[in-house]
Amino acid sequence: MPRPITPIQHPVTSPTRRPLLGEHSAVFEALSIVERIAHTPATVLITGESGTGKSLLARHLHESSGRRGRFVEVACGSLSDSLLESELFGHVAGAFTGAMSDREGRFLQADGGTIFLDEIATASPAMQVKLLRVLQELQFEPVGGGRTHTVDVRVVLATHEDLERLVAEGKFRADLYWRINVVAIEMPALRSRASDIPLLANHFLRMAASRAGRQIEGFTSAAVEALLAHPWPGNVRELEHAVERGVFLGRGPLLDVCDLPVSIAAPRAIRGGHPLPPPASLKTSMAQPERQLILAALERNGWRRDAAARSLGINRTTLYKKLKRLGMDLADHPAGATVWPPASHATSHATSASR
Ligand SMILES: Nc1ncnc2c1ncn2[C@@H]1O[C@H](COP(=O)(O)OP(=O)(O)OP(=O)(O)O)[C@@H](O)[C@H]1O
Ligand SMILES: [Mg+2]
Repeated sequence: MPRPITPIQHPVTSPTRRPLLGEHSAVFEALSIVERIAHTPATVLITGESGTGKSLLARHLHESSGRRGRFVEVACGSLSDSLLESELFGHVAGAFTGAMSDREGRFLQADGGTIFLDEIATASPAMQVKLLRVLQELQFEPVGGGRTHTVDVRVVLATHEDLERLVAEGKFRADLYWRINVVAIEMPALRSRASDIPLLANHFLRMAASRAGRQIEGFTSAAVEALLAHPWPGNVRELEHAVERGVFLGRGPLLDVCDLPVSIAAPRAIRGGHPLPPPASLKTSMAQPERQLILAALERNGWRRDAAARSLGINRTTLYKKLKRLGMDLADHPAGATVWPPASHATSHATSASR
């Protein structure tokens, strides 16, 4: 029977203060750009794979901007050209079959606030021309005519596609690209910031447990191992759903590897029919992979603390604090010392630990 334990309470990232969790330098960089430009009218382009938190960052940007109007989100990819045009700019009665009365568009609804145009790469060439005009002049007419509206709207756009490549292939207008690429923020893939997985997993566990009214106190070490080893093609969204599912389906006081989706659990749970390791305390479970990640980074970087910290996306002081907390004494490993185990072993170890 696993011991009841308390989930890690993270000191820096209380979900009420900042909804976008993460300690990796790429996350700090994204948040720092938001902080610097939130109060300006700059157009912002957020890039990153699906599920990395682009929409969350867009909302955070609006909330930090002090703009009093609404945050209006438009999923451009889900609408046909004509529907998207009327969605964005509105229409007048009789503009097309079924347009019984005037309808206000999303740009007007966002007046004084922020419009978030998601999946912008899906815009057709004709729509790209219309967007260019509204972005340049902040003026538009509803479909079917009517008066020209002038709005005060902050425009944020997002895409998971490589717009530069689409421009080179002639699929996205270069002038629109340069107009929207004023401030660009890249959201990192979760696999490139594996050190944030424990923090995020704990957060989603607490949220799901409170929604489900369940007393679930943490993860077994096998579950933590599986979470750290998974490559997360669906990024933070996939992690969120995996943990939620585990909370809803699991029975014990700890979320175990068998409560995770098979795509995440299977590579570990079925290895050679060996019994899974017994559950450890959450503190130990969480410290173990962190220790492995740090060791692997140090080995990879010839025990140079600066380089290891950089590759982990943390600063040198944070690395020293973590080493101290994990009781890792590096006195025997002067920077630049011979790497042991041999580099090939260190690399494969690092890959499996940080994948
Ligand atoms: N850093 C984070 N901290 C906490 N939750 C996060 C973080 N990043 C993403 N999430 C959560 O993950 C889910 C996916 O995030 P979001 O919808 O913002 O991703 P996205 O990049 O916009 O995805 P898509 O490209 O599919 O639109 C959301 O439930 C969001 O709250
Ligand atoms: Mg999104």
